[in-house]
Order: sequence, then structure tokens, then C-alpha cells
Amino acid sequence: MAKKIKVGIIGLGWPGREHLKGYLQSARAEVVAVCDANEELASGIAREHNIPFVYSDHKAMLQAGEVEAVSVCLPNFLHAPISLDALRAGCHVICEKPPALDAKQARSLANAAKKGGLTLMYALCQRFTGAAKLVKDYVEKGELGDIYFGRAVYHRRRGIPLGTQSWFTDKKRSGGGALIDIGVHALDTAWWLMGSPKPVAVSGSAYRKFEHTLPKGTHFDVDDSAFGLIRFDTGATLILECSWALNLSGGSVTQIAGSKGGIEMNPLKILTERDGVQIDITPHVPDTNAFAGQTDHFLACVQTGRTPLMGPEQGVQLMQMLDGIYQSAATGREVRIK
Ligand SMILES: NC(=O)c1ccc[n+]([C@@H]2O[C@H](COP(=O)([O-])OP(=O)(O)OC[C@H]3O[C@@H](n4cnc5c(N)ncnc54)[C@H](O)[C@@H]3O)[C@@H](O)[C@H]2O)c1
Repeated sequence: MAKKIKVGIIGLGWPGREHLKGYLQSARAEVVAVCDANEELASGIAREHNIPFVYSDHKAMLQAGEVEAVSVCLPNFLHAPISLDALRAGCHVICEKPPALDAKQARSLANAAKKGGLTLMYALCQRFTGAAKLVKDYVEKGELGDIYFGRAVYHRRRGIPLGTQSWFTDKKRSGGGALIDIGVHALDTAWWLMGSPKPVAVSGSAYRKFEHTLPKGTHFDVDDSAFGLIRFDTGATLILECSWALNLSGGSVTQIAGSKGGIEMNPLKILTERDGVQIDITPHVPDTNAFAGQTDHFLACVQTGRTPLMGPEQGVQLMQMLDGIYQSAATGREVRIK
């Protein structure tokens, strides 16, 4: 068995604590440090799990040299600068979604990881559900044929998050609204299941209609819904719909259609055909903990040097698609991606 990787977690909100649970379940990791600006929160978590080192400043944690790998589970505007600090300090990084505020930042992260020969992974946990794994296996075995259409939907009827000090609704700190927050999950899952084709053109629109539902005085300059159409170099098309607030039923749907079959998720259904008869299959996939699978995959990549399922270059492309939708929404024109 390879030696355990010494891990630190920066940011102990809900996702940070899910990363911690994942590490605690894994034989590959030893959590040696936690860091949060809220010292009381960090100390309480360290006490509960016998974690020896506690920090309120990530630079102090990185300088102390106890950690080899970190989870960055911070508000979006801190993803790139703090992941860069960690990579420059020689640490492997798993960073929460979205990869960064934009593709330019994601590119600088990819460059730093390459320069240091370090693992950089983005936490797009929906890739690690049991259903996603089953669908990916179908796709990779060619059972859907040539995949040319995907649809990714993630709607909330009402559900605008605020976060500590209301960063979610402040563009400078979030990079955007529903699109970059939850649209990123829907888009990433469908795109990955389609084989991660290269995006070449993006059209989109974005809306802000629900300011009146927020506490008075909340800074709100981001989208509460966004819609996009992405074209890929394979000729395939993906349609994305997402909202934090929309006067429709909430829910998420992923659909992938190919020349031989299709797949729908939430609920999971495989649509196929035999001798001219259309057949629907309903698999019963056992529940799996997506966060634990994600953490274990990250650690395995650190140990083996393998490129993660959601690595630096895919992070750049994912941000290019999100940037493209925002740019198209602002200009009313299609955006080409080089
Ligand atoms: N994968 C998922 O399903 C999922 C779910 C929710 C959030 N997220 C992502 O996780 C990230 C964090 O979201 P959240 O809901 O926990 O936000 P949050 O605002 O609730 O919590 C962030 C934590 O980071 C701490 N923090 C802030 N600045 C810090 C700094 N400079 N140094 C150390 N600690 C600092 C805060 O004290 C807080 O405990 C976001 O990027 C979000 O998009 C992912």
C-alpha cells in the first residue's frame, strides 16, 4: 500500500465538510490540517476528528509544510488565488466548482500545475454518482452510437443562495449567478457523458428577475436564470437551462441522445431499440456517496500521477463555455471558442 497522503482542507462550509468525510473514509489519506477564516469552526472540527493542526490563514498552513495535498472549498473568487498559492507551495489541489471565475484564471491554474508536475482536479461531484458511472460505461461501449445531442437542466423554483457575507449574489466574488453555481454541474455532467467534445460556439441569454425575494440591501448583480446552446467540433449540440429562481417546477434532468440509443437521468432510463421495437430499461443503481468517490479518485491520481477525470484542461474548456454564455448574453451574439 502506498504511503498515506497528508491532506489539509481550506474552507469548512458544507462542501469542505463533505471533502473531510471523504478523506476520513479513505485509506489513502491522513487529514493533518484544517483552515477556515472562522477559527471557532475550524477548531471545533479539528477537535471532533483529532486533526492536529488548525489555521485561520491558508498561507500559514502552506508555509508550515505539513500538507502534501489540499481541498480548496472557498467562495468562488478565492478558488484561483488560493489554489495557485497551494500549487506554488508544491501541493496537489482539488478545488471546488466552478474551477475559477473565468477561463483565463483556469488557464493560469493549469499552467501552474503543469510547471510543478502536480495533480489539479476540480470537484464536479456529479461525475461520481452511481448513475453517471453506469451511463458513462454505456457511452464508452458505443451502445448509444454517435452522440449528437445533450440536454442539461437544473432548475430551482426559488433557491437563491447567499453564503457567508452574501458572496453568491455579488459578481465580483462569485463570477456569476445560477449559471456558474448550479448550471456548471448540469453542463459538466452532460458534456462529460457526451465524451467531452471540444466546444466551438456558444449562444446564450441570462436574466435577473427575483431581486425582490432577497433580504433588503442584498447586493445582487448576477443572473438568476440562464440558457445556452453549445456547438462542438464533433457537430454535436448541447442545450443548457438553469435557474436559482424560475416560475416552473424545479428539478434536474440530463439527456443524451445518439444514433443507436439514448439515456435520461433523474430518473434514470435507457432508451434503446431492437428489431424495430422501442425498449425502455430502468436500471436500479445502488446509492453511492459521490463526494467519497471523488475524494478517493483525487488521492489515487496523486499517488499514481494519472490525470484526473476532471483535470486542468477540462477545467479551462468548462470555463470557456460558461464565459461564452455570459458573453453571448451580454452582446446578443454567438461567441466562437478557439
Ligand atoms: N460540489 C457541490 O455540490 C457544492 C455545494 C455547495 C457549494 N459548493 C462550492 O463550494 C464553495 C464554498 O461554498 P460554501 O457554500 O461552503 O460557501 P460558504 O460561504 O458557506 O463557506 C465558505 C467557508 O470558507 C470560509 N472562508 C472564507 N474565506 C476564507 C479564507 N480566505 N480563508 C479560509 N477560510 C475562508 C468561510 O469562513 C466559510 O466557512 C463554493 O465555490 C461553492 O460553489 C459546491
